[in-house]
Amino acid sequence: MTEKDWLASLPPPLLQVEDLSFYYGDQVGCLDINFQLYPGEVLGIVGESGSGKSTLLNCLSGHQPPSSGRVMFDHRQQGLVDLFALSEPERRLLMRTDWGLVRQNPRDGLRMNLSAGGNVGERLMAVGARHYGHIRGQAEQWLGRVEIASDRLDHLPTTFSGGMQQRLQIARNLVSQPRLIFMDEPTGGLDVSVQAKLLDLLRGLVRDLNIAAIVVTHDLAVVRLLADRLLVMRQGRVVESGLTDQVLDDPQHPYTQLLVSSVLQV
Ligand SMILES: Nc1ncnc2c1ncn2[C@@H]1O[C@H](COP(=O)(O)OP(=O)(O)OP(=O)(O)O)[C@@H](O)[C@H]1O
Ligand SMILES: [Mg+2]
Repeated sequence: MTEKDWLASLPPPLLQVEDLSFYYGDQVGCLDINFQLYPGEVLGIVGESGSGKSTLLNCLSGHQPPSSGRVMFDHRQQGLVDLFALSEPERRLLMRTDWGLVRQNPRDGLRMNLSAGGNVGERLMAVGARHYGHIRGQAEQWLGRVEIASDRLDHLPTTFSGGMQQRLQIARNLVSQPRLIFMDEPTGGLDVSVQAKLLDLLRGLVRDLNIAAIVVTHDLAVVRLLADRLLVMRQGRVVESGLTDQVLDDPQHPYTQLLVSSVLQV
């Protein structure tokens, strides 16, 4: 199937990024980014260090307004809206409910002074859950889904290993059944066997729950496993995009060719 056929077969986009640029002073962060993300679709963003991946993700996830361009998205209640035309509280509510953000460092994405169950329960309360028994039950069920034993429910995340913290962060983000999650190097800093398990888990959850995701990584194995489509970034720009297998098996841009071949040589 070509990318065009693939796009034609999909419902209207969840996220639409139009001519987005971000400058740090006169330094380019990312430049003229355009793409659409569809419900349930996983988009990978790859590129060398300093290519603008995190800058772009920060704009897309509402953490920094772009210098120019727009991020439009299909809001559950309001329909198609400009992310940065929403009020700050509206944007924050969105991040706590219908969107999720899995940070590279789980300590940035968890409340370290709150129990594991509390971390998951807090997101449920943000979507209106009030019944203590129900919240606790759901939290326990989600810990099970990310393979954390239920007897750890009342423990602080500080007593968890790095891989467990990352799995807890994933549970915290997915429990509110978001339509979109952003992930910045979700398996970075974990050893290879833990990475493989976490990737398997993520792939299963994203597919089962039909969640759309944007995954930033420098690891091509991660996007090969998770992403339907890819953006390849270099020096702030998207230099190549397409279906993941197509881009990785038949790269067109010299930079992508280099990226793919350098991985093969390792
Ligand atoms: N706070 C900042 N102030 C000034 N320039 C910045 C800042 N953060 C990033 N930049 C610049 O913006 C460009 C893109 O950086 P960004 O952090 O988005 O890259 P990245 O692709 O996420 O890299 P990495 O893979 O190393 O995380 C780089 O040239 C970087 O030097
Ligand atoms: Mg980065």
